[in-house]
Amino acid sequence: MVLPVFNLWGPAAGVVVTCSFYVLVSYLYDPYGIRKYPGPFSAKFSYAWILWVGITGRRSQRIHDAHNKYGPIIRISPCELSFSDPAVYPVIHSNLFTTLSKTDHGQKRRLLHPLFTAQVAREFTPRTSSLMAQLIDKWESHYISSEAGFIWFDCVPWITLLAFDSIGEFIFGEPFGMIESGSDSVTVPTDLQLPFVMDKATDVEHYPISLAHIVSMRERYNYPLGLLPKWWRPIGLRVLRKEAQAAEIFSAFVAHRLAERLSTTVPQLENAHDLVGRFLHKSQAQSEEFRPESLVAELITILVAGSDTTRNALIAALYYLAQSQNAQRNLQAELDSHMTSCTISYTDIEVLPCLNACLNETLRLYSPVGIGLPRTVPHPGMSISGAWLAGGTTVGVPIYTVHRSAALWGGHPEEFRPERWLQGDGAQAGLDADALKAFSDGPMRCIGKHLALAQLRVMIAAIFKRFDVVLEVPESPLHIEEWFVRKATECRIGLRRR
Ligand code: HEM
Ligand SMILES: *[C@@H]1O[C@H](CO)[C@@H](O)[C@H](O)[C@H]1NC(C)=O
Repeated sequence: MVLPVFNLWGPAAGVVVTCSFYVLVSYLYDPYGIRKYPGPFSAKFSYAWILWVGITGRRSQRIHDAHNKYGPIIRISPCELSFSDPAVYPVIHSNLFTTLSKTDHGQKRRLLHPLFTAQVAREFTPRTSSLMAQLIDKWESHYISSEAGFIWFDCVPWITLLAFDSIGEFIFGEPFGMIESGSDSVTVPTDLQLPFVMDKATDVEHYPISLAHIVSMRERYNYPLGLLPKWWRPIGLRVLRKEAQAAEIFSAFVAHRLAERLSTTVPQLENAHDLVGRFLHKSQAQSEEFRPESLVAELITILVAGSDTTRNALIAALYYLAQSQNAQRNLQAELDSHMTSCTISYTDIEVLPCLNACLNETLRLYSPVGIGLPRTVPHPGMSISGAWLAGGTTVGVPIYTVHRSAALWGGHPEEFRPERWLQGDGAQAGLDADALKAFSDGPMRCIGKHLALAQLRVMIAAIFKRFDVVLEVPESPLHIEEWFVRKATECRIGLRRR
């Protein structure tokens, strides 16, 4: 059979013409009038560039590089501009701007904010320290033999278990038991219908599954779709069917945990030390109608937002302090003079200058969230950094880039130098502490900031009080794969009892 090759020229030409037409129309259409801004070529007429930088796991780095190449205001998609000037940050994170996420922040904040105060965070620290004691016990029994010297392992899986147990304890009043079992396996109901799950706290059928796996599968659905306009959703749902199902499994898991929590009688809610208990107490006190389904939605966000970020911040702190032995010695000297034993009293460590400088420097250099959180310009439009922008334009200032501004942080912004936060005598340096945007800023900033900082202080203090930490390969970079959160994929360390 002879292939009718010549016949393909017609369709091929058709495709080329259609594509060129599409590109030209998209380029000329430009509803927000941002064609004049420089940026990567394909971003001028398509979402290809932002999708590509997103799924390669290098978004913050690539946008940072694009700013270095094209300038302080760049177009990163047909409807979005990125600003590298830190002075723009407070402007677009002010009350005027709305977020692109569909959740009703106002409502959520009103109910949840009082459950995330600095005092609540402080009261939670004894639980963090008992989880740390458990983790350190595990490390010592698993790895540390009687002989002196370092033992070597990848800390990422362990810190993952710690972060899940810790958020489980905070939300439901008890850890998931992951450090104890050395595994992130949880049970999920076989039937994923939420009303069904909520009705039957005890006798639903279950099967075991890895929580880390479910959470990351869910993100493989949410993240790429978050980069695209809404009309892509039905297509995404078809292509990423398994990933979308992971989201349902995760919801059923959280709903089931909540049902279990609600079925245990807590005689005095006013003494409840978990988020669910405090929430119930508060809605009872204010005679608010309590709808378990809406609480499930909040808990899903809190469980994910509160574990992945803290987990990666702690891994980064271990990495940088292992790499910078000098900073580690200084931290240990400070801990030795303020902690009487390995049991942590939070008041002893809360304000330690060196500990806080190490923590701030980790959050600056690593920044678990690195992207410019997208905000929408209010109607009818306004001028930002000298540029007139139409209402509806999406804008963002990448946190990663703000945290690397030499103007803000002085010399060597790419290096881990906790001393930039300190003066010679340990007092605070002339840095603008407001410039640290790891938790973002403004009305939609992170609600878990106090909790995260308190936990991280306890975790870092517990580890470095007990161990000397080194990197297995001292020169190795920290391998990061970025989704919404920048995640460390592996971090092999050596521990030696001090
Ligand atoms: C080092 C740790 C953490 C970092 C770096 C971090 C960072 C952030 C950032 C940058 C945002 C976005 C704010 C915005 O859109 O303007 C955010 C939102 C949020 N964070 Fe955190 N966070 C951390 C820990 C936590 C913890 C421990 C919790 C709770 C237990 C938490 C709960 C939340 C919630 C509920 C939101 C709002 C999400 C939404 O409205 O969709 N975060 N966080
Ligand atoms: C760490 O950063 C915060 C701002 O996020 C600041 O208030 C605090 O003083 C800093 N700590 C040190 C030791 O510089």
